[in-house]
Amino acid sequence: MVLSDQDYAGIYKIIDNNRNHERVVRYIKDNVLSDLSNNTAYLDIGAGDGKITCQIAPYFKEIMAIEPNPVFFEGLRGTKDAKCIEADFLQVTLTGKYDFILCSHVLYHVDPKDWTRFVDKAYAHLNTNGKMLFILGGDRGDNFEQYKKHNDNYASSAILREILTQKGMAFSEEIIEDSYQTDSFRDMLSLSKFCILENCFNQYAEKTIDSFGVEKAEALCLEYAKSKKINDGLYVMKRAPAYVTITKSQGL
Ligand SMILES: C[S@@+](CC[C@H](N)C(=O)[O-])C[C@H]1O[C@@H](n2cnc3c(N)ncnc32)[C@H](O)[C@@H]1O
Repeated sequence: MVLSDQDYAGIYKIIDNNRNHERVVRYIKDNVLSDLSNNTAYLDIGAGDGKITCQIAPYFKEIMAIEPNPVFFEGLRGTKDAKCIEADFLQVTLTGKYDFILCSHVLYHVDPKDWTRFVDKAYAHLNTNGKMLFILGGDRGDNFEQYKKHNDNYASSAILREILTQKGMAFSEEIIEDSYQTDSFRDMLSLSKFCILENCFNQYAEKTIDSFGVEKAEALCLEYAKSKKINDGLYVMKRAPAYVTITKSQGL
């Protein structure tokens, strides 16, 4: 089961229509920026096309964005005053320290075995009294139950919490309930395929789509999309992203 270009185009439109970036930007303004003692430097890890980066950039003097995907990277260059590095965060050599580090919806793309190294590296570049925000799927809600059923290694905030606790890093987690809404079954089916493929049969999952069975996976997506129907013109997929904020105190 492979998503067509048309499926992908539709998915990005659905995600955009649901204004997810706006929610993240609002959360950062209300919960992070208001609490920072110094607003000099901001690092965005896995900045994507920069929709969040460009809205947070005006609050800082120095902006650094790291993004390995060349297609997104080109768009990022338009972010005013940002320095951009086209690279994998784990491979790049950084010298600076930052007051705010954002890593929004990136960790799904990183092997959970490398998360400790990823978190350690980001923390090493965080200034004292700085804040680091990771946004990723929380370990609750319909989506979590669905993904976890098929992928025991589903990379949710539970793994991140465990790492932070072991490291003794001060953090808080907030799960912000959210949803994707579509007005057609076709769009909800594309979104379901995307979510199931990305979260259940990704490269770090135990089962590949072939070993699970392509037909079985297709049936799973169909059922999942059907279960999201509210009425003929409204399909709702609830989500529970976790906002994990780490604060670096003096001496740590
Ligand atoms: C779902 S997008 C999120 C983009 C943006 N942060 C947002 O929330 O809109 C995930 C991004 O992480 C990037 N990414 C994946 N692995 C990465 C890594 N190891 N280091 C840095 N970025 C990475 C991808 O290229 C992609 O642009």
